Amino acid sequence: MSAPPKTVLTATPEEEAAIRSAVRAAEGHTVAGAEHVDGLLELLSDPRVSDPIYDLPRPFTRDNVARWVADSETLRQEGRCVLAVNLDEDGKVAGYSRYTVWPERSSAELAGARRADLQNTGGGRMGVARSIAWMFEVLGVRLIGLTAALDNVRSAKSIEAAGFRRMGEVESMRPDGTTRRSLYWELAREEWVKFHRL
Ligand SMILES: CC(C)(COP(=O)(O)OP(=O)(O)OC[C@H]1O[C@@H](n2cnc3c(N)ncnc32)[C@H](O)[C@@H]1OP(=O)(O)O)[C@@H](O)C(=O)NCCC(=O)NCCS
Repeated sequence: MSAPPKTVLTATPEEEAAIRSAVRAAEGHTVAGAEHVDGLLELLSDPRVSDPIYDLPRPFTRDNVARWVADSETLRQEGRCVLAVNLDEDGKVAGYSRYTVWPERSSAELAGARRADLQNTGGGRMGVARSIAWMFEVLGVRLIGLTAALDNVRSAKSIEAAGFRRMGEVESMRPDGTTRRSLYWELAREEWVKFHRL
């Protein structure tokens, strides 16, 4: 399951409240709802989309995906999660992003994927950069921790292009309790601001 960053920050009560409120608002994102369950099921059922991601509601059935959408919505109301969908021109689910937030630690992480026909088009780096900017600027967190499978070259490149520092490896826990070895990165807001000023 999603794990908070290795580095531990403590948010002030005001900061924590502001983050929770920004998560609830999820400004600029299409929050996944019951109407997206079939589209998400189709998206995730493609192993080219879901295989590299440990934190998904397997096996992919309509019930499991519907529960994942509903649970994510409950967490959003608590200011802890945003499950967002990207829709194509026909209104079909073409990708998703799931932000997990620890408001009391001013920290967040991100998981996501694009539909197979949209992969390898150079959009990954841009998508990651946009999501990172959103977490720092709109959610207002001060720290982001990210993981990727050891062989996920595309993710690693997109993450490092956004200025993240490699900080070794971690064991990521799947919802069924099994583990996966992951590469691990962190980026603090002040590092990100400097990175973008240069
Ligand atoms: C990860 C994902 C979002 C990246 O999006 P994408 O549009 O496919 O990625 P891009 O085409 O922008 O490629 C990202 C980088 O990897 C590079 N790359 C792609 N394939 C590569 C390969 N086989 N070897 C080396 N580099 C490669 C690209 O050149 C690009 O680097 P650049 O920006 O420096 O040119 C997308 O592939 C995806 O949804 N994958 C399945 C789910 C997944 O892995 N999610 C992330 C879990 S952490």
